[in-house]
Amino acid sequence: MKKLLVTSALPYANGSIHLGHLLEGVQTDIFVRHQKNIGNECYLFCADDTHGTAIMLAAQKANLSPQEFIKQVHQEHYKDLTSFYIQYDNYYTTDSEENKDLACEIYLKLKTKGYINKREIEQTYCEHDKMFLPDRFIKGTCPKCKAKDQYGDSCEVCGASYNPKDLEDPYCAICGNKPILKSSTHLFVNLPKFQDFLKSWVNKSNLHSGVKNKLQEWFSSGLQEWDISRDGPYFGFEIPEEDNKYFYVWLDAPIGYIASSKNYFQKNNPEKFNEFWKDGQGEIFHFIGKDILYFHTLFWPAMLYAGDYQTPTKVNVHGFLTVNGEKMSKSRGTFIKANTYLKYLDPEHFRFYLATKLNDSLEDIDLNFSDFVNKINSDLIGNIINIFSRTGTSILNKLDRRLGQIDEEGKNLLNHLLSKKVEISENFENLNYSKALKEILKLGDIVNKYINDKAPWITIKTNPENARNVITNALNAGKILMIYLKPVLPEISKKVFEFLDIQDQNYSSLNEFLENKIIHPYQILSTRVEEKNIQTMIQESKESQVIQETKKEDSNFISISDLSKVELRVGKILEANHVEGADKLLNLKVDLGEKGVKNVFAGIKAAYKPQDLLGLKVVVVANLEPRKMKFGISEAMLLATGSGEKLSLFVPHKDADVGDILK
Ligand code: 2FM
Ligand code: ZN
Repeated sequence: MKKLLVTSALPYANGSIHLGHLLEGVQTDIFVRHQKNIGNECYLFCADDTHGTAIMLAAQKANLSPQEFIKQVHQEHYKDLTSFYIQYDNYYTTDSEENKDLACEIYLKLKTKGYINKREIEQTYCEHDKMFLPDRFIKGTCPKCKAKDQYGDSCEVCGASYNPKDLEDPYCAICGNKPILKSSTHLFVNLPKFQDFLKSWVNKSNLHSGVKNKLQEWFSSGLQEWDISRDGPYFGFEIPEEDNKYFYVWLDAPIGYIASSKNYFQKNNPEKFNEFWKDGQGEIFHFIGKDILYFHTLFWPAMLYAGDYQTPTKVNVHGFLTVNGEKMSKSRGTFIKANTYLKYLDPEHFRFYLATKLNDSLEDIDLNFSDFVNKINSDLIGNIINIFSRTGTSILNKLDRRLGQIDEEGKNLLNHLLSKKVEISENFENLNYSKALKEILKLGDIVNKYINDKAPWITIKTNPENARNVITNALNAGKILMIYLKPVLPEISKKVFEFLDIQDQNYSSLNEFLENKIIHPYQILSTRVEEKNIQTMIQESKESQVIQETKKEDSNFISISDLSKVELRVGKILEANHVEGADKLLNLKVDLGEKGVKNVFAGIKAAYKPQDLLGLKVVVVANLEPRKMKFGISEAMLLATGSGEKLSLFVPHKDADVGDILK
């Protein structure tokens, strides 16, 4: 029996779970469930990746402490991921005591062993926000194509990558001010010193050839030192023996894998922690996307090696999820969040569809919706589910729901299905799920053909015992296929086992045949996909994007509740006088009815003569905080448009009552 500790990459705690995260979650979960299905000991650990500037600022914007913010996100993430039946042994957080201790321990080992260098570097700093700005928080004009409002690291218009210092007219993305360059001391992991170790790790680790090639390129172009420190303010762990310095989020994020398992094992099985992480008695298996390869195949093994922890046995790298052949797009509505999907479609359908497409390569996986409808309706419902729905429903009721015996033909059928066990299992093991599914569906076709040929709905009229045996053969065949499919369809397989009135099944129960027993009434296992649900889901994703974009583009927007705070009233000008020494101001006394008479200084002198204003009704912001001006206190404000001679006061209807509130 093998022992495996498996992880998925930790989702950032500043955004919702979307189908891209779920591609990885589902790929990992199928692997883990497969391991359990064949009798291995396997654990799945994950967590939210909670640190960094982006999360600190998102929390500020939401008026929450970072801890409150990440707690809310954690609940949402966990709910979304587990709704797709991803079964974690622990879904933890990187902002934990275990992670802090482990990060400090590993860092101090790196330091003691001479892998940490310290030197001054110059970086972009916002004097208004009093912080160094990460690349994504600096914007400006692209030095290459001159497109405005581009991020500090790359241009979305021409695709150029550059140093934030090269951006033209840079501004702080938080406050809009021009940043300065400022020096600060940073800590670096001396990655080049790990070169020999990393080369031998790559040779012995079980990496895909595409990944090995990429690593070879990095070795050839020379490894670079890695900056692992950030200056405060920063949401993260303070670096020991330093002042106001924090670990860069990418230092403590992967350590979160260890911390999540530590938190679990301490509560459930304390000796396991060392078995996996110290003594090499188990395998460590990471699932990641191709964008974070560098972190997991260079920094991460180096940290583990220096920290005296076991290095990964395998890093499995998948491509991105595309939708209808293109990158997921917010404006096209194909950037689909987990909770939007769940409103319209079945999570097991997503698992099944992905399983028919996943392989061990780095290539992108396309979610094509017409193919999706076809695969679910024909292959899942029309093939696999059909085996149960055509034999387990009314026809079996007519036979008192009692199974008969497996006859010779049945045995041959079942033996054929069982003969594919090793091939199917190996394909799951090697992450070639699409091949496993292809084989299973081929077997499903054979079972369906057998049922068609035997037509028990006809033979029941003349030879009910023969019909009973055919159904028995077919349902036993269905049971075998459901054991094969259990990692992909955990909920459907559970329902099938309940319906067949048997305990949870796995590979060791493949040869246990069901005969001469009464089985439960059929319950619906899964239903066809409706095309219109897909359209509604895409439309909703588009709309939620429009709302978000509008909010982002105009940060000057105020909410309805903000607007309702402004008290606009009809005022009547009782007095109007010049102000000595002021070029633009007139001093007014404005009657606001129940709010009394207010003293107002208004910059309207160029457009109005005092005598023309007497008795005029105007629109007034009545609840403005009184402001002390050079010539006295101004207690309200008149609404106007234009400026200078063209300024024009807002005037309500002539019959409006003085003091009335404008709505
Ligand atoms: O790229 C990401 O979404 C990161 N939050 C992944 C971290 S994986 C691990 F290293 F923690
Ligand atoms: Zn700023």
